[in-house]
Amino acid sequence: MFETIQSAPPDAILGLTAAFQSDPNPAKVNLGVGVYKDASGTTPILASVKAAERKIVETAKTKSYMPIGGDPAYGKLVQEMILGVGHEAISSGRIRTAHTPGGTGGLRVGADFLKKFLPGATVWVSKPTWANHRGIFQAAGFKVEEYPYYDPKTRALDFDAMKAALEKIKAGDIVLLHVCCHNPTGVDLAHEQWSQVAEIAGKQGWLPFLDFAYQGFGASLEADRFGLLAMAAQCPEMIVSSSFSKNFGLYQDRTGALSLFAKDAKQAAASFSNIEIVIRVNYSNPAAHGGLIVTTILSDPALKQQWILELNAMRDRIAGVRSQFVAALKNAGIAQDFGYIAHQKGMFSFSGLTDAQVAFLKEKKAVYVVGGGRINVAGITPKNLDYLCAAIKEALTVV
Ligand SMILES: Cc1ncc(COP(=O)(O)O)c(C=O)c1O
Repeated sequence: MFETIQSAPPDAILGLTAAFQSDPNPAKVNLGVGVYKDASGTTPILASVKAAERKIVETAKTKSYMPIGGDPAYGKLVQEMILGVGHEAISSGRIRTAHTPGGTGGLRVGADFLKKFLPGATVWVSKPTWANHRGIFQAAGFKVEEYPYYDPKTRALDFDAMKAALEKIKAGDIVLLHVCCHNPTGVDLAHEQWSQVAEIAGKQGWLPFLDFAYQGFGASLEADRFGLLAMAAQCPEMIVSSSFSKNFGLYQDRTGALSLFAKDAKQAAASFSNIEIVIRVNYSNPAAHGGLIVTTILSDPALKQQWILELNAMRDRIAGVRSQFVAALKNAGIAQDFGYIAHQKGMFSFSGLTDAQVAFLKEKKAVYVVGGGRINVAGITPKNLDYLCAAIKEALTVV
């Protein structure tokens, strides 16, 4: 039967990395995949992670199976990270957390769980959103629709249109929201806008599914919680997917979590037992290593402090690169104002480059940008900045 199977298209983002890796041009620049890079262009292992790994190697006693939902200590630390210590959902036991393989695993486990109990629901995602969101929810069997989010004309959030759409979504549907550092636009909701969205969710009764993949990359670990806390205050039931790929740099260790909020501890326990079934028939129980690293760091005050400083340094570098990039584009003699890039949050920016310009940059300049013009700002380094700006200048004039 394999004779008749046609090749599937390459992944829009990971396929670009493969093309970058095989490009022989020594000046090549990869602004595609969402991986943090330091000023030397490498994706480092954080020193706090290395220290935690040493500690784990010295003290680990077994490689026996993990519980289906992972180590309960990890779950508790994740809850405290996303909500803050002492939040009512934690003390009342109405939040339950499973350790999942990255944020993608959290999204997929959540999607499979919801499909069982809300089989007819539509999942609403922002226009645009991370390409894999659509794939994940469609793979779980959901119909996926978009609500307005980014306005390419103003290069900003179209909040009026977003709000109007959210006000029409019915109870029983699912709305996916990015808590901070919106991927791919870098455009987030202001606090006041979060409060309005939370009120709409509470009134309409649709189920919020919050994707929290960049906690600490926006303003700080605490400030980035704002949207989640606003939603939790209005919506007794919701789902949160966390990723520790970026903020702990644990990309290849596939470390994330799925948290379920219910009205009370009894309902949370019943729902969580169904999440455990989804996990059991999928990957049985999580790989331990990444979770052990996170648990070791978050439960050791000195390591935690070291990690927070490293997280802050990653965030500060990206913010600095945003301003340098805007200034360098101007210095290169480009008349178009790219000032908006300096105000966006997280690793990504919608650069405003057209698909034709993106294709020109790849083919003629070996500069790799995701279709639609999303750039990973963290891929810009002092070494490639001038080359990049000159290439963009040419793309803007030639195409
Ligand atoms: C918005 C968003 N959600 C989820 C993920 C998945 O993260 P992970 O690599 O932990 O699966 C990403 C990763 O790029 C992302 O950008």
